[in-house]
Amino acid sequence: MQSLHSSVSSDTKRLRLAVLVSGGGTNLQAMLDRSRENTLDAEVVVVASDRNDAYGLVRARNAGVPAHVVSYGWQDGAEPAPVLPGGASCAVDLEELDRRQRIIFHPDRGKRLEKLEKLVRAEERLIALLDRYEPDYVCLAGYMRLLSPFFLDHCNRGGEYRVINIHPALLPSFPGGNGYEDTFGYGCKWGGVTVHFVDEGEDSGPIIAQAAYPIFPMDGIEEVRRRGLQLEYAVYSQCINWLARGQAQIRRPPGRRAHVFISDPSYPEILRGWVEMAL
Ligand code: GRF
Repeated sequence: MQSLHSSVSSDTKRLRLAVLVSGGGTNLQAMLDRSRENTLDAEVVVVASDRNDAYGLVRARNAGVPAHVVSYGWQDGAEPAPVLPGGASCAVDLEELDRRQRIIFHPDRGKRLEKLEKLVRAEERLIALLDRYEPDYVCLAGYMRLLSPFFLDHCNRGGEYRVINIHPALLPSFPGGNGYEDTFGYGCKWGGVTVHFVDEGEDSGPIIAQAAYPIFPMDGIEEVRRRGLQLEYAVYSQCINWLARGQAQIRRPPGRRAHVFISDPSYPEILRGWVEMAL
């Protein structure tokens, strides 16, 4: 991910995106469409999935974008050889990663390290693949895997966040894999979507943008999901455009968590558009 180091200037730059998917890939499709229509200041240069049956792979190939599967299992039952130059097995300090990670909570330290090692081995393969395409950002779009500090360190060199995610709930409410179901099941009257940078926890990184939609009394989970997904496509592409234009900056106020400052003068109109879309 060599080009991850290049900082985005205040001029618009067409970003190179690596998109990770595990499923249907409608967010990916929205990116591909908007990129082709030139309403996204980015192009998808590679798509990768942990599942060979992910329909997102088909969407990528249909659009002429290279699509790959990176397995998370031990291959052939044997320990896979490290693929990073120099042999990452020597370079990875699992104990140090374990101190920093907030995604694997097994109480037994040995079991935790075992899971972490398995994850890191898969991430080595993913990194080796993505690096070939020199992406500026890695976009998670329905990727059902959590990323370890090993992967994030590789992407975030230079101290900038370079991995972003779309989550189908108004974080910090309802993190995890069932944002729509959890929002609906709780009886919320409004749901929402969040685009955020990825940090070492689950759905806990700095929020770039959020948008909300109403949940009406007669709605079922399918209406909720449909309304939410329409917003997801709009919010995700807007966030990518802000990043491309240098209009989303991380601020780290002393003693407070990092947050994202959007400097786009059209911000109020954009939010108004999302509210109108949701109603
Ligand atoms: C979306 O709801 C996204 O927010 C979540 O996973 C879902 C992926 O949908 N992370 P799709 O594969 O983009 O259709």
